[in-house]
Amino acid sequence: MRVLVTGSSGMLGSDILPILGREFEVVAPSHGEMDITDFERVRRAIAKGGFDWVIHLAAITDLDWCEDNPEKAFLVNALATKNIAEICRDTGTKLVYISTSGVFSGQKKTPYTEQDIPKPVNVYGRTKYEGEKFVQEILDEGDFLILRVGWLFGGGARDKKFVGKMFDLLRERPKVMAVDDIFGSPNYSIDIGETIVQLVEGGHYGLFHIANSGEPASRYDIAVAIREFMGSAAEIEPVPASKFPTRAFRPPMEAIDSIRIEDALGKKLRHWRRALEEYVKRLLRER
Ligand SMILES: NC(=O)c1ccc[n+]([C@@H]2O[C@H](COP(=O)([O-])OP(=O)(O)OC[C@H]3O[C@@H](n4cnc5c(N)ncnc54)[C@H](OP(=O)(O)O)[C@@H]3O)[C@@H](O)[C@H]2O)c1
Repeated sequence: MRVLVTGSSGMLGSDILPILGREFEVVAPSHGEMDITDFERVRRAIAKGGFDWVIHLAAITDLDWCEDNPEKAFLVNALATKNIAEICRDTGTKLVYISTSGVFSGQKKTPYTEQDIPKPVNVYGRTKYEGEKFVQEILDEGDFLILRVGWLFGGGARDKKFVGKMFDLLRERPKVMAVDDIFGSPNYSIDIGETIVQLVEGGHYGLFHIANSGEPASRYDIAVAIREFMGSAAEIEPVPASKFPTRAFRPPMEAIDSIRIEDALGKKLRHWRRALEEYVKRLLRER
């Protein structure tokens, strides 16, 4: 099976490329080689490539940057996705679109399922949800996978996001702070990669939530687990999100339940603590 991957240099892409490469013949142009906002360039690449699937990861993922640059965020996250979906329809190529648990309002007290109606509360969430709607409108149900993932960790040495930063802080400082009143579903990129392969090879289609299993976690819960797995003695102070004002509003509940994955694959993803433990051991080797 021939597969085109966008956004392959990102946190998710860099971890899942080797997993995809074990199963599929993968072509993964860099941002410089194929800017997804160059609609004609993308059309030529997909039309000439003879691909069975496009796995579309590329996006602007900095929530505060999106808040300040809504038009550019909409262009990259939504309109470029629309263009890719149209090309997939025209060329008979199937599409995996990676979306986010950040499409929900965060007002629910329990994890969101695939049945819940999105109501994004920031520009990033709105642009990703628009991307989802384009995919659903343009492609037939049997031609796409929309995979909403939770709070990603991965990337190892290149990880500049929460888990990588917290790992470094716990190594360098005697005391750190972590937010304890916003909840999400931690997700290991490696587990997302394995799940994408299983869904594609198993002939599954439609909208899925993908999260490691286990109770919703705050940043504080995740920091405490990182400390345990790395054997740090640093103190972690739980603080409210209001301590770190951000330009983009963060929904207080972003956790997701992966109900359809369990139905499709007959199993849950492993508990986020087991996945995080494996990842922290990797960080100890790679950083
Ligand atoms: N990180 C999370 O917690 C999270 C959670 C839920 C969903 N997601 C979704 O998962 C996917 C991957 O996220 P990630 O964390 O791996 O993101 P990331 O680390 O920010 O990587 C984004 C990737 O997209 C590329 N890109 C950005 N603009 C582009 C453009 N105009 N043309 C071509 N490539 C472009 C980047 O290339 P350059 O770096 O070279 O610019 C990079 O390879 C995204 O769709 C994101 O919305 C992420």
